[in-house]
Amino acid sequence: MAHQLVIVLDFGGQYNQLIARRVRECGVYCEVKSYKTPLEEIRALAPVGIIFTGGPNSVYDPASPHIDKAIFDMGIPILGICYGCQLMAWTLGGTVESCVNSEYGKTDTHYDTSSVLFGGIHLPETATSWMSHTDYVSVLPEGFRTTAHTADCPNAAFENTERKLYAVQFHPEVNHTFAGLGMIDSFVKNVCGATGDWTMAGYAKTAIAQIREKVGDGKVLLGLSGGVDSSVAAALVAKAVGSQLTCIFVDHGFMRKNEGDEVEAAFKDSGMHFIRVNAKERFMAKLSGVSDPEQKRKLIGEEFIRTFEDEKKKLGKVDFLVQGTIYPDVIESGAGDAAVIKSHHNVGGLPEDVDFELIEPLRMLFKDEVRKLGTELGLSPVLVWRQPFPGPGLAIRIIGEITDDKLAILQDADLIFRQEIAKAGLDKDINQYFAVLTNIRSVGVMGDARTYDYTIGLRAVTTNDFMTADFARIPFDTLAAAASRIVGEVKNVNRVVYDVTTKPPATIEWE
Ligand code: XMP
Repeated sequence: MAHQLVIVLDFGGQYNQLIARRVRECGVYCEVKSYKTPLEEIRALAPVGIIFTGGPNSVYDPASPHIDKAIFDMGIPILGICYGCQLMAWTLGGTVESCVNSEYGKTDTHYDTSSVLFGGIHLPETATSWMSHTDYVSVLPEGFRTTAHTADCPNAAFENTERKLYAVQFHPEVNHTFAGLGMIDSFVKNVCGATGDWTMAGYAKTAIAQIREKVGDGKVLLGLSGGVDSSVAAALVAKAVGSQLTCIFVDHGFMRKNEGDEVEAAFKDSGMHFIRVNAKERFMAKLSGVSDPEQKRKLIGEEFIRTFEDEKKKLGKVDFLVQGTIYPDVIESGAGDAAVIKSHHNVGGLPEDVDFELIEPLRMLFKDEVRKLGTELGLSPVLVWRQPFPGPGLAIRIIGEITDDKLAILQDADLIFRQEIAKAGLDKDINQYFAVLTNIRSVGVMGDARTYDYTIGLRAVTTNDFMTADFARIPFDTLAAAASRIVGEVKNVNRVVYDVTTKPPATIEWE
């Protein structure tokens, strides 16, 4: 079933994906495209509306991203945000200049609530908007009227209702803008006429039908890591083709405590053919005596592929391979650089000389939507809300050489920390949290005896993109509870420290 589409044209703004997610929150399907996308291509997609994002440039700089003026004559409603707002004004004959006083952050904004964008959404005439600009529109193009202003920005919003062109200097997609989501909702529903009937249940139904059609009676293979993306992809494909799907779950032995069993339990009765390879011995043998982090990553990555291939060979001919690629990995940013790509060795990575077709059923979904889909498909919250976990697992959370004893210590300490975080109700606010087994031993006293045991490091971060991160401000009482349980319940640990560095200069993982 074709659904209505809104296109976000990306001019390099930091909020490009957020805008798309907001549109989808309004129940309207949305895709991000580079501003370089040819107009014919846009026309062929028949969007009900277009949104221009912000961007770091100045429109009057000839080297900055521009757009063919003809886009404004296509009869498709357009909303320009920040740079997109300036671009609309400038392209249609208005004037854009450098601000006398730039505006950053929360700004008192006066709205004309007779505008379709601002009316009917409980927006007072004066409210906070989120600004971030050093240029402003000083003179509007012909045919436009001002619909909002601030002390320093005379044209904080403007519109030409006849041509269905709207522009806002501030960022309605950011939570700090009062009623910002309402403004986006007004644009897509009241200006573009979108019906808002795009739902995750509908997505699942369509995706299942498409997978069925593509696969026919073919054989499908999926490498399951136990992470959110591969788990949701597995659940979806299992619903579509049942026993034609084989999932290979390579358990390298560096999973968190009980995690391997949890993954197995989640998929045992799903109708698919589930293979768990308990390969711990194999991996431990490779890693014996190895303490360099990059060497560990490399060896684990190679061994993973080898184990997977060994299993795959037993299956005979396979026609399709499922990958849990998600939308942020697919979007080609308007800034010209590919979307954030981790330099990390991805353990799920497969060799390229394969002779099967790819199925990527999550390719158009954001992470939060993948979780919604997982819930829709009945996956357990333990899997759906799993925090990101590096492919090499606990192997890069044990500093130095890995031994069975160290692995057991870390698994126990990590489980306690996770339990205490959940008990404090912080598990959904902190983006990643875990324990590290430092290679430090230090002196302690237990009972009347001197101890000389390991130090556990606790790490918890908040982050949007994992490229930069802040350490989470966990209440001392929660840290105290975790520390006291760890030294009390885990043998050979007598000290616990909390990591209070940001990224950069530190990284999230310790190795
Ligand atoms: P860093 O430590 O670089 O981590 O700040 C950023 C994010 O990437 C994850 N990470 C990895 N993921 N293989 C992976 O699949 C790896 O080798 C790897 N190293 C780090 C890390 O957990 C964090 O989410």
